[in-house]
Amino acid sequence: DTGHFTYDQGFVATASCKSAITYIDGDEGVLLYRGYPIEQLAKHSNFLEVAHLLINGELPTADEFKAFEHEVTHHTMMHESLKTFMQGFHYDAHPMAMLCGVIGSLAAFYHDKLDIDDPEHRRLAAIRLIAKMPTIAAAAYRYSIGWPIRFPRNNLDYCHRFLHMMFEVPSEPLDLPPVAAKALDLLFILHADHEQNASTSTVRLVGSTGANPYACIAAGIAALWGPAHGGANEAVLTMLQEIGDAKNVAQAVERAKDKDSGFRLMGFGHRVYKNFDPRATIIREMCHKVLNELGVSDPLLDIAMELEQVALKDEYFVQRKLYPNVDFYSGIIYKALGIPTSMFTVMFAIARTAGWVAHWLEQSADPTVKIGRPRQVYTGPVSRDYVSIDKR
Ligand code: SDX
Repeated sequence: DTGHFTYDQGFVATASCKSAITYIDGDEGVLLYRGYPIEQLAKHSNFLEVAHLLINGELPTADEFKAFEHEVTHHTMMHESLKTFMQGFHYDAHPMAMLCGVIGSLAAFYHDKLDIDDPEHRRLAAIRLIAKMPTIAAAAYRYSIGWPIRFPRNNLDYCHRFLHMMFEVPSEPLDLPPVAAKALDLLFILHADHEQNASTSTVRLVGSTGANPYACIAAGIAALWGPAHGGANEAVLTMLQEIGDAKNVAQAVERAKDKDSGFRLMGFGHRVYKNFDPRATIIREMCHKVLNELGVSDPLLDIAMELEQVALKDEYFVQRKLYPNVDFYSGIIYKALGIPTSMFTVMFAIARTAGWVAHWLEQSADPTVKIGRPRQVYTGPVSRDYVSIDKR
């Protein structure tokens, strides 16, 4: 009994860790970051404030936020030799491949000076990762389209700075409607953490060996890339496009019910939520607001709405409690902001870095945590003697 939440012994025995960061009630569709409901943070907070909350456990005072924002801003630059490193990628490398490689390589820049047992060194590594992720992400995008990499403009806030690094060209100042950065900030808040999802559990497992934080976060990026996880947001757009081309939503729903098809409705279903994903509800509303304010009408949104309506009335989805998840609508907003599909999972990684480093810090500070060692059910042959090759 943790005072507010009780777990039966069986659950505790199978749990991979204890954490005070995020709480999910999948049946009730509840998501709390350090006890604050996601709906309230989405309405009142901003991404950097949420990052501070996840890392430190409390919402910052005005002075604490100013100091945190100043420190993040101070670390947004990336070393010039990282650009040389990036130029080793083929020009059309997937941005997630570049992000994974470059973040892992940060260990070569900072690791040898990092004393993992020093809490201040650990905190600084976390700040560096939150600060540099957007710079490296935008650089990966611009490299992939052959544009020169832009320096971070540190007079801008976190989201405006990222959008400028992504899209700014010298000839014309970037004229972004206010809703763009607001929508991005909201998406970052909603994607910042989610308890022991596959990528966060990966970060904790790698961290439990004492590996440096840059290697841990690179491992998290690798796990997030899969289409069953963060890669789903990119897969949703492809799926909606295909459904739009076929002009047949009902057929897609039938295909998703046919096990032999190997086709699933991307952006639907969740390991934990057996009710609406509260983030999907917020993003769906934001979708309409962003498209209206940008004056964009996207047929993919109409297809997504129709797909949701058809699926939610279908016994197959109702019986299996399959609802839209965080990835179902997010891509439509990213697309409206001009972000290419190949960068959707990178956007997820920028936001989830706050959660990943919060979990890494929480675990690194706990001396009782042992190296992770998942167990298996062995299904191979019993012990047998070696047979020389001429007798096989
Ligand atoms: C994220 O863990 C997190 O918190 C992740 C995340 C985060 O913030 O970190 O929330 C982010 O990763 C969201 C999920 C994004 N992935 C997708 O949208 C991919 C599509 N969804 C599915 O692959 C699936 O729903 C999962 C992987 C998300 C969850 O799978 P589960 O809970 O393990 O479900 P399952 O594979 O055991 O399926 C249960 C049943 C099966 O049918 P039966 O064998 O019982 O007959 O539901 C069916 C599945 O075939 N099913 C689907 C389906 N998802 C599950 N059928 C059609 N379409 C789907 N999307």
